Amino acid sequence: MSKQKTIWYCSECGHKQQKWAGQCISCHQWNTLQEEIDTSHLPRRFEAQTITASRPVQLKEVNLQDTPRLLTRMPECDRLLGGGIVPGSLILVGGDPGIGKSTLTLQLSHALALQGLTVLYVCGEESVQQTSLRAQRLGIKTDNLFLLCETNFALIKTQIDYINPQVLIIDSIQIVYKSELSSAPGSVSQVRETTTEFMHIAKGKGITTFLIGHVTKSGEIAGPRVLEHLVDTVLYFEGDKQHHYRMIRVVKNRFGPTDEIAVFQMKQTGLIEVPNPSEIFLEERRKEIIGSVIIPTLEGTRPILVEIQALVTDTIFSTPSRRSAGLDQNRLALLLAVMEKRVGYHLHKCDVFVSVAGGLRISEPAVDLGILLASASSLHNCVIDPETIAIGEVGLGGEVRSVTRIESRLKEAIHMGFKRCIIPQRNCKGIDENIKSKIAINGVEFVEEALDALFK
Ligand SMILES: Nc1ncnc2c1ncn2[C@@H]1O[C@H](COP(=O)(O)OP(=O)(O)OP(=O)(O)O)[C@@H](O)[C@H]1O
Ligand SMILES: [Mg+2]
Ligand SMILES: [Zn+2]
Repeated sequence: MSKQKTIWYCSECGHKQQKWAGQCISCHQWNTLQEEIDTSHLPRRFEAQTITASRPVQLKEVNLQDTPRLLTRMPECDRLLGGGIVPGSLILVGGDPGIGKSTLTLQLSHALALQGLTVLYVCGEESVQQTSLRAQRLGIKTDNLFLLCETNFALIKTQIDYINPQVLIIDSIQIVYKSELSSAPGSVSQVRETTTEFMHIAKGKGITTFLIGHVTKSGEIAGPRVLEHLVDTVLYFEGDKQHHYRMIRVVKNRFGPTDEIAVFQMKQTGLIEVPNPSEIFLEERRKEIIGSVIIPTLEGTRPILVEIQALVTDTIFSTPSRRSAGLDQNRLALLLAVMEKRVGYHLHKCDVFVSVAGGLRISEPAVDLGILLASASSLHNCVIDPETIAIGEVGLGGEVRSVTRIESRLKEAIHMGFKRCIIPQRNCKGIDENIKSKIAINGVEFVEEALDALFK
């Protein structure tokens, strides 16, 4: 018998090549190539049995009334998904180990089962007893939820055909394997093939499918990125386990907006929605603290007030360190350079640490002014008025640039009882009179003006 041919797959992008290399030539990641047995000579495995032959239809003929979205009985979750779950869609739920993926999907299964839908929960990672213990803790009582402890794809498919569920949950995709493929469960080809199979089942039979995926150290779903292209919606758990609240972010959604987040609290009875996240992020805040400022950041379309904290200390080393948590480190270095050049602070002799309190990650540049003011507050040893918020992008020339959706940010600040705001001058025009009457608006064109307004 001839030797089995092997092939190398990139675990990040799914690129395949004949020989090993240190770097993937497609996505340029290092050490991502994994050896697997070549299966390209095997017969095609995807048969279109489940897919009914389709014919082209005119757009106006399509009846949308027939497909109402499934509501989850959790308004935050529905909002996250763009107004509920689209029946027959394929949803990938990713997150660190132990963050609550199984809990969330089990709660969703319950909500859907209560609406009379048959739910099949495939718990490959835990026994049926363990899953039902969790279900008991979450207070789940329903006749429509079926548990199946199985990891072999063919056997799962048999059960799907037998039970005919409307909702299918795979916990997790990394543990399901097809015996035709000789590579181990969780390998690139296994994950991709099984996901493709589940996609065919979901689309062919109209089964709403949730796939749970583990996350690698670098924060991506283990297995190739290809996985994200196959599914309709990708939800990621964020936030660390030390905090008792969890954030779920929509990274991709074919049926709704992306970059929305919903905040949940992990309780014994499961994940509880937090309708007003600002309260949580400001909960542990101590007023009159040096180096702290509140900013109204946007997560998707939702404004959230968070605290930016900075610590500026004299350094004893020749190279000062700049550290950030929840913020982009390069952005911090850039802002410190602007302060050095524009305002004349001697920051090259200081270590600077900046963080977002509460474990949120902020990527929008509108946070710039907050970082800058918090650092200045720490440097001056001067508190920033606790009833003031600040927002604005800072350019290399020290100019404060406008931000998007200023009104919703200000409304959130008013709602949380803030009295004064420092915002970009360009955002000042066109703000509703009603908002203006409730919060004092201080428009600034350059960072110096913002510093003057707070520290003089
Ligand atoms: N009795 C309890 N009270 C409160 N929280 C609990 C309790 N039991 C478990 N938890 C929480 O549930 C979390 C585990 O949830 P879950 O098993 O859904 O995570 P997961 O993402 O599916 O994990 P894995 O990756 O291991 O499958 C724990 O981190 C803990 O915070
Ligand atoms: Mg789990
Ligand atoms: Zn690659």
